Parts: sequence; C-alpha cells; structure tokens
Amino acid sequence: AADERESLYLVSEFASSYFQKILHKTDQGKSIGLSYFKERGFTEETIKKFDLGYSLDEWQAFTDEALKQGYNIDYLGKTGLTIVKEDKRFDRFKGRVMFPIKSMSGRVLGFGGRILINDKKAAKYVNSPESVIYYKSKVLYGIYHAKQSIAKEDNCFLVEGYTDVIQFHQTGVKNVVSSSGTALTSEQIRLINRLTKNITVLFDGDAAGMRASLRGIDLILEQGMNVKVCTFPEGEDPDSFAKQNTLEELSLYLEEKSKDFIQFKASVLYEDSKGDPIKKAETVRDIVNSISKIPDRIKKEIYIQECARIMDISEEVLFSTLAQINKKEF
Ligand code: CTP
Ligand code: MN
Ligand code: MN
Ligand code: MN
Ligand code: MN
Repeated sequence: AADERESLYLVSEFASSYFQKILHKTDQGKSIGLSYFKERGFTEETIKKFDLGYSLDEWQAFTDEALKQGYNIDYLGKTGLTIVKEDKRFDRFKGRVMFPIKSMSGRVLGFGGRILINDKKAAKYVNSPESVIYYKSKVLYGIYHAKQSIAKEDNCFLVEGYTDVIQFHQTGVKNVVSSSGTALTSEQIRLINRLTKNITVLFDGDAAGMRASLRGIDLILEQGMNVKVCTFPEGEDPDSFAKQNTLEELSLYLEEKSKDFIQFKASVLYEDSKGDPIKKAETVRDIVNSISKIPDRIKKEIYIQECARIMDISEEVLFSTLAQINKKEF
C-alpha cells in the first residue's frame, strides 16, 4: 500500500511538471493560460512559486504523454487524472488553468482546474477526486507555503479559494490557507492547531456564504482555539481586495475589521432576528450552542456575559440555556 501511494505521488508530480511545461512552453499554454493568470494580476514569480499550470484543450493529451513516459494507466486512473471507461481514456482536466494541491511537506496530492471563461454550463472548478493520497477532509490548500509564516505570525487566515491564497502571498500576507470551497473539517483545523492557536476566518463579501459558514466555525472553538472573523465589502473576496491594495492597506484592513467570532455571530444573528421572538429564541440557542463548545470555563462565562449584552437578554437565561445544552450532551 505504501508502494501504491508512492506511485500515485510520482504520477501527480509528473502531471504537475507537465502542466507547468504546457503553460510556459506551448503556444496554447502561453496565449490562453499564461495570459489568463497575468490578467488576474499574478506575476511570473507567483505563477512559478505555486507551480501553476495549464491543461491542453484536447481529449487525451496528458494521458498519452504520461503513458509514453512509462506511467501506469492503473495509477493514472487512481489519481483521477485519467478517466478510464472500458477501453476509453480521457483527461479529466481539459483547457483549464491548473492549481496543484500540496501536502504539508510539499508533495502533490491533487489538482484544482479552473475554466477560463465563466460559463453557466460548465463547472468553474473541476477538482481531483479523492484517492489514497488525497483525502479532501485532511488537506488545506496553501499549507506548504504558509506553515512557517503561520507559526511566526502566530495566526492563520482561512479563506475560501485558491486564488485568495495566491493573491495574499503576492501582496505579502503568507499565513493563509484555504479549505477550497468545502465545509471545514476537524482534521483541517488540527493541521493549523499544530502551528498556532489563532485562526481568522475571511469571508467572501456575499452574505449567504457567510451565514452558511458560521456553523463550521464551532469546530474551531471545540479545539480550544481563538477565532476571529473578517468580512470584505459586498462583491469582493480576499483575492480581489488584495489585488487592489498594498500590503500596508491590506494589513490595516485585516487588523481593523477582524472581530471576535462569538461577538460577531451574536450581533449578526441578533440583527437577523430583531422583532421576531421565535427567531430570537432560536438565535439564543444557536449562540449558546457555540459558546458551549469552548473548553475553557472562564472564557465561556465571559462570552455569556458579552452575549447577554449584545443580544439584550439576561445572563440567567443564557446560563440556563447553557446548562440545558450541557445536560443533553452528557
Ligand atoms: N470551488 C469548487 N468548485 C466550484 C466552485 C468553487 O471547487 N464549482 C471551490 C474552489 O476551491 C474555489 C472555492 O471553492 O477556489 C471558492 O469558490 P469561489 O469563491 O466561487 O471561487 P474563487 O476562489 O473566488 O475563484 P475565482 O476568483 O477564480 O472565481
Ligand atoms: Mn465564494
Ligand atoms: Mn471567491
Ligand atoms: Mn475570486
Ligand atoms: Mn496587492
């Protein structure tokens, strides 16, 4: 099994250098892929640092080259790079800019591939399927490039997408990783927990996405970590925001707009449920449920006091709700 994993790593690393070669050395790669990255504002240095690539818009260009180089079709299939259907073989990634996804130690686990022109008919991103080397719940995009900086800054920014990570690096903020659009997992948080106890979650500037993500953040509290959140202006995401700002401006924004998660959630939920007693009752349970995840008793108590103030409700009600939740859990 260790042999098989190693073979899958080798195939993936071959693919990564192949996609880079296509991007930098072929006409299609240069005129389509490289221009796309440059239009997004990525410099040559950034493109190289993240090993970005391009997949030709052909049915089996990659698979043919890999087979020619002696890679086994079985392993190509298992990484998902080649889709094997009976006697037919297709490349999974066609005409997309390629983002290799790396482990903590820098090995290539899989890829995200972005379509160049937004088109309602095709998925914006196609991603590698899970394999024995790629468990999505255990991977954070950017961790290899961020780990030193996360430890040094004693904080980790968590963003939604690949391009957010890359643009932050280019602007000079390097302690950043992405859950790549999937719901955050405890295993992903544990990776960060080894490096720092502080996480700042950065949301794209669309309210729906932010509200949907609030629940996943309880998993961070459960691990006894400190969580802040930061939102961006409507229609912006960390990538677009960093692109328009200098390092000084970005750092200042992050510093000023980051809010304690519990306080933030309490005020957002409170705003949502104003004037609706039933909704407010739900909201109270929701926020107390978040507070119940915090292992430290003193912190719990302080948060109860603050939420009572923010949500304009008595501490007694919040403490008794907390006691109810605790009873249910044991
Ligand atoms: N994602 C995905 N499949 C999709 C859409 C999104 O896997 N069809 C993941 C990608 O990892 C993406 C992240 O979710 O980076 C965030 O999605 P979104 O905000 O829509 O994309 P951006 O990262 O902002 O990408 P871009 O700026 O290129 O539109
Ligand atoms: Mn988004
Ligand atoms: Mn985004
Ligand atoms: Mn974006
Ligand atoms: Mn910038």
